[in-house]
Amino acid sequence: MKERKYNSREIASKYLEFFKAKDHAIIPSAPLVPEEDSPLLFNIAGMQPLMPYFLGKKHPGGVRIANIQKCLRTIDINEVGDDSHCTFFEMLGNWSLGDYFKKESIYWSWEFLTSHKWLGLDPRLISVTVFEGNNDAPRDNESAKLWGSLGLDYGRIAFMGSDDNWWAVGETGPCGPDTEIFYWINKGLPPVGSNKKTDPENWMEIWNNVFMEFNRLNKTTLERLPKRNVDTGMGLERITVALNRAKNIYQTDLFIDVMEKILSLVTQNKGFYQERSGRIIADHLRAAIHLIGDGVLPSNIGRGYVLRRLIRRAIREAYKMKVEKPIMSELGRIYIKKFKNIYISVDQNQTKILEELQKEEAKFTSTIKKGIIEFEKISRDKNKEGVISGKEVFYLFETFGFPLEMTAELASENNLAIDKKGYEKALADHQEKSRANKTIKFKGGLADRDSKEVISLHTACHLMLAGIRWILGNDIYQAGSNITPDRLRFDFNYPKKLTSQQIKKIEDFVNRKIAMGFSIKKTKESKKAARTRGVMGSFWNKYPDLVQIYKIVDKNGEIVSEEICGGPHVDSSKNMGKFRIIKEESSGSGVRRIKAILQKEKILN
Ligand code: SER
Repeated sequence: MKERKYNSREIASKYLEFFKAKDHAIIPSAPLVPEEDSPLLFNIAGMQPLMPYFLGKKHPGGVRIANIQKCLRTIDINEVGDDSHCTFFEMLGNWSLGDYFKKESIYWSWEFLTSHKWLGLDPRLISVTVFEGNNDAPRDNESAKLWGSLGLDYGRIAFMGSDDNWWAVGETGPCGPDTEIFYWINKGLPPVGSNKKTDPENWMEIWNNVFMEFNRLNKTTLERLPKRNVDTGMGLERITVALNRAKNIYQTDLFIDVMEKILSLVTQNKGFYQERSGRIIADHLRAAIHLIGDGVLPSNIGRGYVLRRLIRRAIREAYKMKVEKPIMSELGRIYIKKFKNIYISVDQNQTKILEELQKEEAKFTSTIKKGIIEFEKISRDKNKEGVISGKEVFYLFETFGFPLEMTAELASENNLAIDKKGYEKALADHQEKSRANKTIKFKGGLADRDSKEVISLHTACHLMLAGIRWILGNDIYQAGSNITPDRLRFDFNYPKKLTSQQIKKIEDFVNRKIAMGFSIKKTKESKKAARTRGVMGSFWNKYPDLVQIYKIVDKNGEIVSEEICGGPHVDSSKNMGKFRIIKEESSGSGVRRIKAILQKEKILN
């Protein structure tokens, strides 16, 4: 009998249909780019956009949610080209926000995977892992029992440690034990007693159910979340491969047409097709389409740099196959057709996606040839296993648009290394030069209204740090800040989430000082003397010998704050408005982030 073929979109719709029938609200995918100011570049898991709801916020869709979330991970970018790694992927997820827990989650996963009404997988080809327990949480016997009660043989249930069966969103934040579901990828039936622990190569993970009931505050402290949640994630690419018993993702409907097109474009252009290069192009371009659709544009920093790197790496792979003509937008069209009915971001930005691909390709194609010649010149002069200097790497980046990672790849193909530190220094020097330029611009723009907002918020930062130190202790220091005309953002060291009382106390402190009024004076002093006196500063080794200090003294004559600072600050508190903290969140391990605003209304107290 001919084996049934499963189309990825059919799997995705069945998944949503199934969870809709279990009373889940189906929500659209959030963009790849997280909410403004997130420390993360991209959403790397389906649960990420739902973070506030795991922490207790009410979701408008209710307590049962499901969706298909676009995700992007570049951590394994060098593995792309093998059978399974992708940069962009789609994650099917169902979530319980304080509603159902282990039983429903496990039973429904089983039903969806094995019932003939749904995916109809052979239950004999399924195994699972559960958490074996540690200091954070006990052995998850409950999940093991639930799997057993479904008829899963105990030999198919492996208890494993936190490396395998504990899922956390980051170093701090929501986390919990998980149970992972695997599919047998070898021929025939798995032997008795075979599971992920005994036979890791032959079992492929297809679904992860996380029982998210904890919030990690720091390395050693976990607190219980207000409610017990479930977070599940099933990679659409993986489940499609598993169901089709395909050798790799490129042989499924996800990529097959794109791969065929790449092959035909290479041969049309009299190139030499190489499977790995073809796969990299297919993967990177798929990610690029979605990034542009979600508003990212190629650039030399942050998200834009990742996009540029993906497109340029794809172009170089084409170049390796001797294709020197632009082919990206032609391939891009196939992806647009594939995704425009699924993601509105792709549908609404079709022209932009193609234009950006064309622009980036034209830019890079015009220099790649010269850059490669230049690279060859540079590398020819090196000894075997020599090092390409930081300045040379930077030159290739600056003049020919070679992202660092691309030069590193070229170097390693030629048995050479690169001086990454030297490159970073050359880049930092370059950036420092342009940043100084920006400061001059900022000073010049002080007269306009927007800059006045920034100045008020800047003074509020000093008052707030004083308040935080007054309430949380004098070990607190500034770990970063950023001010726009609308709000201040301020990071500081503290291991725990602030309570609402602490937040209120900080607000009250700042508002009291604003209401009372203060004077603010600028002085200069030697760095050594300032440090000995306990003046606040965060970057001592970067300051010059003579430092500028801003001192705030309130109307009672009390010194509120003394900080090393380049300014500028308000002359008086009169028009500052009312200080309000609008967000308090983690910004990495042991670092909290506050966002605050100044509301323009009279302070009555
Ligand atoms: N957050 C878990 C994961 O990414 C389950 O969704 O695997």
